[in-house]
Amino acid sequence: MRRVITYGTFDLLHYGHINLLKRAKEYGDYLIVALSTDEFNWCEKKKKCYFSYEKRKQLLEAIRYVDLVIPEDSWDQKVLDIAKYHIDTFVMGDDWKGSFDFISEQTDAKVVYVTRTPEISTTQIKKDLGVD
Ligand code: CTP
Repeated sequence: MRRVITYGTFDLLHYGHINLLKRAKEYGDYLIVALSTDEFNWCEKKKKCYFSYEKRKQLLEAIRYVDLVIPEDSWDQKVLDIAKYHIDTFVMGDDWKGSFDFISEQTDAKVVYVTRTPEISTTQIKKDLGVD
């Protein structure tokens, strides 16, 4: 079985997220989403989520491409997660291009950046609704 992992906040789930998850799943048979916890978002990523971790997790678990959701609570857990879950491919949107190239040097996993879906983001939704 080929295993894939991706990381993110996935707040106010939108079609850009769905595209990312669909394309991530195409790299394997089992997709793990490491979902940023509320504390990690707030303290480290400086993002305030609309939906709690539990709600965001519940939404992701309802998506057919997602097999497992685990918490992301540190910047440094990626290499450990890749070993623990026997990951073959690490996928992120290309807004992160280059940021995680070290993973292919420190692990056996391949690093893939997929093209971001244009013109949609959680930040943009909040701006358009005037709530940011
Ligand atoms: N993503 C994507 N296309 C979009 C938005 C997000 O491919 N239009 C991808 C990101 O590149 C990342 C994953 O979805 O790999 C989770 O992104 P996240 O930061 O949670 O979503 P954004 O909508 O970008 O949220 P924000 O505006 O708060 O950064």
